[in-house]
Amino acid sequence: MAFPTETVYGLGANALDARAVARVFQAKARPGFDPLITHLADAADLPRLVGRVPEMVSVLAERFWPGPLTLIVERPLAIPPIVTSGLDTMAVRVPDHCVARALIAQAGVAVAAPSANRFGRLSPTRAEHVVAGLGDAVDLILDGGPTRYGVESTIVDARAGHPVVRRLGALPVEAIAEVVGPLKIALGGHGRPAAPGALAAHYAPSTPLRVLSDSTSVPHHGGSLGYLAFRDRPREEYAAIEVLAPDGDLTRAAAGLFDALHRLDAAGLTQILAERVPDTGLGQAINDRLQRAAATWRPDR
Ligand code: TXA
Ligand code: MG
Repeated sequence: MAFPTETVYGLGANALDARAVARVFQAKARPGFDPLITHLADAADLPRLVGRVPEMVSVLAERFWPGPLTLIVERPLAIPPIVTSGLDTMAVRVPDHCVARALIAQAGVAVAAPSANRFGRLSPTRAEHVVAGLGDAVDLILDGGPTRYGVESTIVDARAGHPVVRRLGALPVEAIAEVVGPLKIALGGHGRPAAPGALAAHYAPSTPLRVLSDSTSVPHHGGSLGYLAFRDRPREEYAAIEVLAPDGDLTRAAAGLFDALHRLDAAGLTQILAERVPDTGLGQAINDRLQRAAATWRPDR
């Protein structure tokens, strides 16, 4: 079942049921090495599920849950290894969305849920995106309208006491730093990724996307080009133009990012040109997603 959260739509299954979780992997065509996030209805459910919670994990959970922060903990025995792709750690969060929390509370179990899109593709920020991306692979979608943040949760590993950011996301790094001081950002790594959302190529439209180094370096174009602008419309003509935030508000830009990319992707363009946004707050997550979208070149294009 697909459901809205404050970040993106998720595709949920009973996290204690390995067969249900396997169906989620299947529906997304998701490789078995990419672990899911376990969702809880309430922060108080974490110690119930995992037993002892490391001090810094507790501090962050208390401060930011419910909300767009995913924390890494040891995987409890009750959670089958398929959820964590065999890792002995588990990603967990409490979403800040009444539909998501009501669903999890009603289910009475932890809910494992990746974003409700095909693996590697644009994340869904509206129920329509889920329909377009997964179609019949999903039996039910709870439509909560467009999601508030529009980018996925920030993933932090705080088990050792010094928080390390594993995925940039809807909770700005600056907000976490206000609570814990300066923190390390370590996205991806070598070989098996720490968080496959940190794979170089991810979050991709099927139209090739190119990130402009700055908004003045627009290449001369032929063909059918689309343009993703941050605040100002480009002076040149394009077959399709999306402006994320005319007022320069990065929160607005993040919320509309995937929606704009879904529209451009559906416009039959040969290429999408995308401007980078200021690299602070939510801008870091937006630039991260654009970079990864640009890194993917697929044969099925
Ligand atoms: O905002 C979100 O986090 C959304 C909503 C639905 O909650 N979910 C989401 O799930 O973005 P997904 O599956 O698209 O991305 C989950 C990310 C993946 O990059 C995965 O590798 C990482 O979480 N992850 C899961 N378990 C992990 C673990 N034990 N250690 C490090 N990263 C982990
Ligand atoms: Mg995803």
